Amino acid sequence: MDQKDIIRRTAEHVRDRLSGDTTGHDWWHIERVRALARRLGREEGADLFVVELAALLHDIADWKFHDGDLEAGPREAAAWLEECGVEKRAIDEVCTIIGSLSFKGAQVPTPMATLAGQVVQDADRLDALGAMGIARAFAYGGHQKREIHNPDIAPESHRSFEAYQSSGSTTINHFHEKLLLLADRMNTGAARRLAAGRHSYMRSFLERFQKEWGGEL
Ligand code: ADP
Ligand code: NI
Repeated sequence: MDQKDIIRRTAEHVRDRLSGDTTGHDWWHIERVRALARRLGREEGADLFVVELAALLHDIADWKFHDGDLEAGPREAAAWLEECGVEKRAIDEVCTIIGSLSFKGAQVPTPMATLAGQVVQDADRLDALGAMGIARAFAYGGHQKREIHNPDIAPESHRSFEAYQSSGSTTINHFHEKLLLLADRMNTGAARRLAAGRHSYMRSFLERFQKEWGGEL
């Protein structure tokens, strides 16, 4: 199989697995991340084969739905890519990217070694911002049975992955615990520019939310 066929077959495989998901990790999230990652990857000069495979496979077995197992995603991705006959070097890079992509708490660094990985991480994080990010946050919060907002519960700044993972906080708190921190954590200049607009859109949403909550508007 040539690279184009591998990407086409991988896209079909992922679409079969994730279509119909209602947690915000559905096939359309993957499509958006893939398109953004390609765009950023072209601008930054990254290896587009690795970028596209990692974008397509990054949520194939998310730790959030596999008892916190960070290896579930890389394991499934590797098995699939071996079946497609992808060379070992590319498989290793894709799996390293998938294993290090996720946000793990406000005070937990998530370094990404290669440019391809930085681009995919930026694309995934951009899809957690802006109008898209707001929609996904409430979809995920509802799925996890979290409250929309509770003024008695303050946001936290998590120091460890374990603390972040076990937090059952509200969805509004998730904006303060993660989403509003992402614009400053973009790896590439191209993503930083896109993140700025999405960040300020979320800020206006939160301001308005507070005003409506207090009956001011
Ligand atoms: P990551 O790789 O950083 O975990 P994902 O691509 O899996 O990112 O997407 C995370 C999505 O799930 C985001 O849109 C985010 O808003 C949502 N999400 C994750 N945790 C929560 C939470 N505790 N409350 C609300 N939404 C959440
Ligand atoms: Ni994702």
